[in-house]
Amino acid sequence: MILLDSANLDDIARARALGFVRGVTTNPTLMRKETDDPRRHLERIAAAVEPLELFYQPTGAYGSLADEADAVFRLDRRIVLKLPATPDGVALAGAMVSRGAAVALTAVQSPPAMIVAEAIGCTAVIPYVDRAQRDIRTDPQLVSALARLRRRRDTRIVAASVKSVGQFVTAFLDGADAVTAPLAVLESLLSHPAALEAERQFAAEYRPKA
Ligand code: E4P
Repeated sequence: MILLDSANLDDIARARALGFVRGVTTNPTLMRKETDDPRRHLERIAAAVEPLELFYQPTGAYGSLADEADAVFRLDRRIVLKLPATPDGVALAGAMVSRGAAVALTAVQSPPAMIVAEAIGCTAVIPYVDRAQRDIRTDPQLVSALARLRRRRDTRIVAASVKSVGQFVTAFLDGADAVTAPLAVLESLLSHPAALEAERQFAAEYRPKA
């Protein structure tokens, strides 16, 4: 499964036009680039993404993450709440799961997050691939480690912080069920020069000679 990592409405429209994108992920940094009012912008995003899957991370713009998570849950129960794989984030994640919310642990940087996510019934873990590769404290094989630990198919591994086609492909090879990436990465997935050359050659075969 391929997802777009953006809160930009034009990006969402262009990603949908690619024909293979099945959902959208946001985070507070992506939301901050677009709006001062995340709640209102979330409604626009939800309308633009419908009926695809939406992963939304509460921003803290209105006070506590718990209140915002609650508001998002009331707005649309299909929205997957992204909450950090930290002690505070997991406490809120567990509470939201027990109310029936779909929750993903995000910003995952270590293997125990997989075990905890399964223990509380999360729908996904979201490891940060590029950050893991840049941070000396993190195992660069993070996605493989999560995949080896996984026992339940319904806790998906959604690789994020993916900055290149190489990282995109490697994440799937390492066992990710889904990858979320910026529009530029998604648009370059099928832009291999040799494939484009072949397309041009085929298109020229029946073109009337000048
Ligand atoms: C995923 O859902 C996140 O929005 C995103 O990929 C975060 O990673 P980055 O800040 O390194 O791009």
